[in-house]
Amino acid sequence: MKFTPVVTMTFVATLLAMPHVGVAADAAAGKSAYAVCAACHGQQGEGNVAMNAPKLAGQESWYIERQLSAFRDGLRGTAPGDTFGAQMRPMAMAVGDATAQANLIAYIATLPPSDAPATITGDAAAGKSAYAVCAACHGQNGEGNQQLGGPKLAGQEDWYLVRQIANFKKGLRGYDPKDTWGMQMKPMAATLATDKAVSDVVAYIDTLK
Ligand code: HEC
Ligand code: HEC
Repeated sequence: MKFTPVVTMTFVATLLAMPHVGVAADAAAGKSAYAVCAACHGQQGEGNVAMNAPKLAGQESWYIERQLSAFRDGLRGTAPGDTFGAQMRPMAMAVGDATAQANLIAYIATLPPSDAPATITGDAAAGKSAYAVCAACHGQNGEGNQQLGGPKLAGQEDWYLVRQIANFKKGLRGYDPKDTWGMQMKPMAATLATDKAVSDVVAYIDTLK
């Protein structure tokens, strides 16, 4: 059988999104494992700007799983100069086996989603037209699109969105040919040529709550 990489990755992502069919993930067991994450991401997964750690509460489980794997496998957090990714990588490597990871993600899914406060100033109206292209993969309302691999953006810390767009532009994300999903996002980030274009689109995403 021949699959294009994208189809194969979508297939794998679909499997990952329903990991443990038949094996109930144990959120209660995941709770104790989350204690270490809380130090940076907050007790409720609300994010912590002082620790540079994004919000996890409300993010789709399939995306959290994919990012933990990406950090663990070195597709993310290994580029020279990626200070914050380098802080996260050892945490992902310490999560443990598939069951431990599934339990942890199941616990994160129980944390109450809350909208992060807006901290970025930009022209949301200008950002709205720029967002039209993003909507294809991230959803009209920034709700995410699992089929196309685009994570939820609505409600995420806006400073984190700005930093990730910059990371894609600088090659600190989407740098590994095996990072099929990151490689799709990288050219999209490049379309936001100026800092103003980035803050405008993020100011618009801030309104998608
Ligand atoms: C030492 C602080 C620290 C700890 C502890 C930590 N993280 Fe992180 N984490 C970060 C930082 C910083 C980032 C952002 C990296 C970047 O900017 O690319 C991050 C990013 C992430 C992301 C990517 C989110 C996204 O939308 O891109 C996930 C998922 C994640 N962490 C999960 C966890 C889990 C689960 C744990 C516990 C096992 C954990 N983290 C422990 C600091 C930490
Ligand atoms: C072709 C589909 C596609 C389009 C169009 C697209 N993205 Fe993405 N984006 C992705 C994928 C896939 C990822 C996840 C990459 C990964 O798994 O590491 C992503 C990740 C991101 C992230 C990182 C979020 C996080 O929590 O880690 C941000 C921010 C982002 N995109 C913003 C945008 C913006 C703004 C636009 C419009 C200018 C855009 N994207 C257009 C596919 C797309």
